Amino acid sequence: MRNYYIAGNWKMHKTRSEAAELARALVAQLKDGKYKYLVAPAFTSLETVGAIVKGSNILLGAQNCAPEEQGAHTGEVSVLQLKDLGVQVVILGHSERRHIYKEDDELINKKVKLALKHGLEVILCVGELLEEREAGKAEVVCETQTVKGLTGVAAADLGRITIAYEPVWAIGTGKTATPEDADVIHAYIRKVVGKLYGADAAQNIIIQYGGSVKSENAAQLMAKENIDGALVGGAALKADSFVPIAKFG
Ligand code: PGA
Repeated sequence: MRNYYIAGNWKMHKTRSEAAELARALVAQLKDGKYKYLVAPAFTSLETVGAIVKGSNILLGAQNCAPEEQGAHTGEVSVLQLKDLGVQVVILGHSERRHIYKEDDELINKKVKLALKHGLEVILCVGELLEEREAGKAEVVCETQTVKGLTGVAAADLGRITIAYEPVWAIGTGKTATPEDADVIHAYIRKVVGKLYGADAAQNIIIQYGGSVKSENAAQLMAKENIDGALVGGAALKADSFVPIAKFG
């Protein structure tokens, strides 16, 4: 049985004191929560938030990492540095990384393998642009991003991979994919994982939905057979909006 996995991506928001306040509220309000939880603050708040969520049921995540372990990479943060701060999970291939910072599938795959090599869990984000959806290419875009993102990932490591389906047109726009439309793509991604790793792997992999998830639509999305959780942006910035999503149902 797959458990639900609800993650908050705080993006480039919050000073350390603001992040600490939110983290403290989440630890208190989610302590009786039944699902798997993650918060991913900005790099600058990882240590502060890590100290607060330590020992709780909330994992500490980073929003990105460098494709190399160390070296002359000005402005980058290495997986070794993340581990040193207690980071357990890294979000990779987010559409803002793909489209604003021009990360391609090869680069993302390099990061995925490096994070796995160092024992981290990965949330691999995939999703189509509006024009790709309108051209009927949503499935093929998600398939390519999934296959290329997972290239060279051993079956034994797949348990540390979560896929997040985030249609780019639904991120931060208030437009959510209907639960039905999202489920079609989730089912398709599950099939792709099945082709790569077999039926059991397909059954077991957690596929989150992301894109304007809020308390009003979380339960309907999660009710779909292939939707196993949420990667939440805007609504993750306040305990009042994140906790009802994290405790849906
Ligand atoms: P949103 O962001 O919930 O604000 O749409 C989701 C994401 O980018 O992970």
